[in-house]
Formats: sequence, structure tokens, C-alpha cells
Amino acid sequence: MKYLILSDVHANYQALSKVLQNETYDEVLYIGDLIGYAADPYLCYKTFLETGGVGVMGNHEYGTLHPDVLGRFSENARKGILHTIKSIPPEYLTHMATLPEVLAIDNFVLCHTMLGNPLSFQYVFPENKESSYLLESFQKMKEKDHQVMFTGHTHKPCIFKEKEDKTIEIYLAHDGDLYLDDARYVINAGSVGQSRNGVPKAHYVLYDPQKKKVSFRSMDYDVKKAAERIFQEGLPEFSGQRLYLGT
Ligand SMILES: [Fe+2]
Repeated sequence: MKYLILSDVHANYQALSKVLQNETYDEVLYIGDLIGYAADPYLCYKTFLETGGVGVMGNHEYGTLHPDVLGRFSENARKGILHTIKSIPPEYLTHMATLPEVLAIDNFVLCHTMLGNPLSFQYVFPENKESSYLLESFQKMKEKDHQVMFTGHTHKPCIFKEKEDKTIEIYLAHDGDLYLDDARYVINAGSVGQSRNGVPKAHYVLYDPQKKKVSFRSMDYDVKKAAERIFQEGLPEFSGQRLYLGT
């Protein structure tokens, strides 16, 4: 079984459709933030449902469902969520409300952020290896016997590995294959629709549990068209400009 694991699509239909049409996989799994920021939440949510609808809640889905928390978002993020609310039909909102915080499959688990309190949407960046949220996630994985967690939220692809002495090693992830040993791993899949690692492409991972193989991938997509759609919809210019920069 080869899973295509996508996080932080952020309503970028150009990036999402390019990856789905050009990658080979058996099933698609989504790690949250399918919507927000960019122009096409309707098409992205529709595609999500058409490709199986298996995924977890991100903070932008949570904000769409609970507009009372919008004060916690940046102005650009808030405008993207308000655009989402007016763009998608009520039945999609009903479906969105059923998304779990955490989803376990085989020996791995999906969560948009960390496992201790997923709906608090804490950030653990690659430089935060001593983060208590990260340590808590490894503890929860041990309790449930999960070897791997796939996460997103920071838009920075990276690998957190728990060593035998329980300290954490961090690797920034670049395109390539990683064969897992018996350690536990928290793997950030990066962002499909709003790269922030300086590489303006769609970032994602493939996972084959039988081979214990995680493949980090990035793919070019039509950045110009995605940015133009953002400008057409009257969304913040910065949300379009950053796609060219990958920041
Ligand atoms: Fe995000």
C-alpha cells in the first residue's frame, strides 16, 4: 500500500490537482488545512471528497467552523477563512465538522499539530526539538504503539526521530527516500499549497508501511495561475506573492 500524504493545501487547487494527477499512489490521506488563504476552497474540498475524504481537522477548518476564534488568526488568514465560509456549501461544512483531530491507520497516526491537545494547534518548528509538545506526542505514540506520526501546520518538511536515549534528532527534509528503522518518528509533510521552506513547489510525502519507506517529494505547479486566482478573488496580495517565493 502506498499512501499519498498531503498537508496544508490551503485552497490552492493548481497545486493539489497537479500532484493528484502526476503522482502514483493507492490512497490519499490529508493532514488538515485543506482550505484557507487561497482562492479555491470549494474545488479543493470537492476534490478531497472525491479522493476518499480521509483526513484530520486543521486550524483553518476549525476557524471556518468556529468563527468566534477568528481573532486568533492573522489578518491574511482571517480573510482566507471568511472567503472559505462564503465559498463552500453547507453540506461541506457539515462534513468538515466530522473531521477527527487524530486519525490512526495501521502503525501510524495523522494529526495537524501535536497529539497532546490537537485543537490547541501548537507549532513545533524544526528548531524546537526540546518542545514539550513534541515530547508529549512521542509519549502518546508510545502509549498507543504508533511508530510514525505525520503532521503539518508549520509548512516546513522535517523529520523528528526519537533516539534510544529518548533525546530527539531533527533533520530538515529534502526530496528523497527515508527507510525507517525501529525508532519512533514524527514526520512533517510540508505544505502542498503554500510552501514556506524557500522552495516554491507543492511539497508532500509518500508512505509505504510494508517497506517502511517515506518519500519526500516536491512538484512544480502553475504558481502564476494560483496567484492570479487569489488576486481575482480580492484576497490579500501577500497570499499570492508568497507563492512565488515559497515563504
Ligand atoms: Fe497551514
